[in-house]
Amino acid sequence: MLTEIVAHRGYPKKAPENTLASFKKALAFSIDILEIDVHLTKDQQLVIIHDEAVDRTSNGHGFVKDKTLEELLKLDFGSWFSPKYNDEKIMCLSELLVLLKKINFSKKLLIEVKTDHFAYPGIEALLVKTIAQFDTHKYQIIYQSFNIATLLKIAKLDKSANLAALFFYPTWQILCLSKKNLITAIHPDNRWLINRIFWLKPSMIRPWKVNDPQKIRKILKCQLAGVITDEIELALDLRKEI
Ligand code: G3P
Ligand code: CA
Repeated sequence: MLTEIVAHRGYPKKAPENTLASFKKALAFSIDILEIDVHLTKDQQLVIIHDEAVDRTSNGHGFVKDKTLEELLKLDFGSWFSPKYNDEKIMCLSELLVLLKKINFSKKLLIEVKTDHFAYPGIEALLVKTIAQFDTHKYQIIYQSFNIATLLKIAKLDKSANLAALFFYPTWQILCLSKKNLITAIHPDNRWLINRIFWLKPSMIRPWKVNDPQKIRKILKCQLAGVITDEIELALDLRKEI
């Protein structure tokens, strides 16, 4: 089995993470999965950003949940990375879905639902509804979250949803849900996984975030389902060698 290369937040080595520029850079390579992070604004819009707050990746301050989309769109999400990206704006999930349709995307989209710190009531229903409004049949959507309650809510709303549990340490709940096939993949922190790789079914595992060539090589050799990485080109090159 060929290990899938998962572009973590687009191509964050080459362009500001989770922006259009970052996604375009990643999609220029033959990646298998594009990973994004989703939060909810004050006016109930699904936006693509990693942190709960805008401070690290924009020229603004404060939490996404306390801002409207209009307020967020006034911020510069690129200059922190390089002045040449000063036009990068926050992206709505729906904008990305439009782009993927336009380019005939046929791989997988991995959506991380960031309900770890704030619950964002209603985010799961809004996500499922938004996805249903777009023609996503050409590609597969996988929802992932550290918050198992979020995954279970999505499972109730969409019986055929592909769900992946993110974790630092596995719990009995995660192992039971994967045994029952409610969770179809497990995405562990690689620091935990590397020494205990054989405890879990390889075809279900996509460790994150793996940028070290030795670790990537090991994952490829073990034929794990995927590797979530910032080092797209390195991982693609290493895969050719295996
Ligand atoms: O895809 C898994 C990984 O993205 C989880 O960690 O913090 O980069 O969202 P984080
Ligand atoms: Ca993520």
